[in-house]
Amino acid sequence: MGLKVDEGTIDKIRASVDIVDVIGEYVQLKKQGRNYFALCPFHSEKTPSFSVSPDKQIFHCFGCGVGGNVFTFIMEIEGISFPEAVRLLGEKAGIDVPLEGNQNSQTNDRLAILYHGMELLTKFYHKLLLDERYGKKALDYLRKRGFTGEAIRRFQIGYAVPSWEAATRFLERRNLPLPLFEQVGLLSKRQFDGKIFDRFRDRIMFPIRDAKGRTVAFAGRVLGDQKPKYLNTPESNIFHKGRILFGYDSARPAIKRKNEVVLFEGYADVIRAYQAGIDNGVASMGTSLTEDQARLLTRNAEKIIICYDSDEAGTNAAFRAAEMLKGFGRTIKIARMPAGLDPDDYITRYGGDRFRNDVIGASQTVMAFKMQYLKKGKNMNDEGDRLRYIEEVLREISTLNQAVERDHYLRQLADEFSLSLDALKQQQYQIYRRRKQKEEDSRHESRPIPYRNGQRHLLPAHLAAERQLLAHMMRDADIAAEVMNAIGASFHDDLHQALAAHLYAYYEEGRSPDVAAFIEKLEDPQLKQAATAIAMMEISEQASRQEIEDYIARILQYGTEADIQRKERERKEAEKRRDYETAAKILAEIIALKKR
Ligand code: UTP
Ligand code: MN
Repeated sequence: MGLKVDEGTIDKIRASVDIVDVIGEYVQLKKQGRNYFALCPFHSEKTPSFSVSPDKQIFHCFGCGVGGNVFTFIMEIEGISFPEAVRLLGEKAGIDVPLEGNQNSQTNDRLAILYHGMELLTKFYHKLLLDERYGKKALDYLRKRGFTGEAIRRFQIGYAVPSWEAATRFLERRNLPLPLFEQVGLLSKRQFDGKIFDRFRDRIMFPIRDAKGRTVAFAGRVLGDQKPKYLNTPESNIFHKGRILFGYDSARPAIKRKNEVVLFEGYADVIRAYQAGIDNGVASMGTSLTEDQARLLTRNAEKIIICYDSDEAGTNAAFRAAEMLKGFGRTIKIARMPAGLDPDDYITRYGGDRFRNDVIGASQTVMAFKMQYLKKGKNMNDEGDRLRYIEEVLREISTLNQAVERDHYLRQLADEFSLSLDALKQQQYQIYRRRKQKEEDSRHESRPIPYRNGQRHLLPAHLAAERQLLAHMMRDADIAAEVMNAIGASFHDDLHQALAAHLYAYYEEGRSPDVAAFIEKLEDPQLKQAATAIAMMEISEQASRQEIEDYIARILQYGTEADIQRKERERKEAEKRRDYETAAKILAEIIALKKR
């Protein structure tokens, strides 16, 4: 099953891309010693435990245990299969990837045709908008709303003419299979005779692109105030709304450069803000921010500014988005506009400069925003409401990690309600203790601990020796040969045993030490993770014979020790049964073992 890429090509690609460059496009890497570190893109954390080794061309997270080579990384982060990852990196390296296998290559062809058609349609709608004969009305509408030609080009905004067959015929003329485009919701099928026709008519077309810049969906807006305002292509195999942020592909360079991203609700906001000089804006497209989107946002930026509509719904959504982003260890700010306005309205009324300075530039901390937000629906002159408010704010304050920060807001609260700072501090601490206790209680039901490098010091000596040996074996074929002679596959830990066996087989093929290439051979993700964890261990560069022999001795010795203990138990059992003959035989075995 699956499609195969030949090994030579895989090796060639792995040799010509640098894992640091590849991962650097997704996370901010900082050099520290020989390795690079970053906040792990696969779990949320506050201190970086994700490391990349340029020497070994592998990555490993000490926090969640994920690890592997450059292909593993791309598979994980893009959520794609191995051949797809090879193909993607092949493109980067300028190496052609011939794909074998038929069933999958058919799906692959279908996908390729779909993407191709979506691209053609993007251009088709865009051309129609700019064509006097067809798009004048739509273009006038956009211009009246303040959209510039440059922005229309950048976002490839288009127009679907009021026809039932314009797009259908366009696709037909290019021999593209109509059912494919019906499936992704661009065309519709008439019930009674199965005739296919255009679903989008007389609408402004916003192409929605994935991170690679491929059009995967369209949103079509009516030109007036009719409802529904937007007609969207639905979820499909190329469009998962929750994993996409509108505008991300074109904003990505600016996001990385500024180390900051602005999150809006709608298409119009992103585009108008772009015209106002905010070129690092993206939109969640009117739905609640998902975890996937949060990951995308936090991947390339240290700071996330949420700029949602300042109406009731927008304020609630901003609050939820801030909650969602909380665990990602980034600075979150919230930009506010006068009540009832959205970014697009604000820019129309006050201009781009004021938007940049007074809205984006004046964004507030999440805590300040929450203090305002929690007041909603409460009457501060009512004692009950007031106390409830204070309790709620204290609960928020107690989630802050920094003492200075907590102090700042506690003072603010004390000032606002003329309360004693000490009393507030005390109450806040109690809330903190209560929550900690709850967390402690629920920790007992938590998941098993993944295989971690950081736990090495907790390992029994013989297992630590096994890991040290494996680390050396990965870097040196001679050591591997020596270990094979001395202990073969008799490692005590199952994972270690499997890794040793794979290593012997790897060198057997005449290959030279290369951790990244070795990992390729391991199909079991748990093995992969164990291998990267071990490969990332700090070990002596040049192991002395003595060191290696000591490890081997410790492993063999543990075997005997365990054997002796087992036999001692058997001997006692035999004596209890008064089976002195067996007991004597076992004793002789024990003595022999001890001599060894
Ligand atoms: P808005 O109603 O704020 O739309 O919804 P907008 O983008 O600002 O558009 P204009 O200014 O009225 O032209 C915010 C987002 O919610 C989604 C869209 O992604 C929109 O950009 N939405 C809204 C829909 O998908 N369908 C709708 O009917 C309305
Ligand atoms: Mn709007």
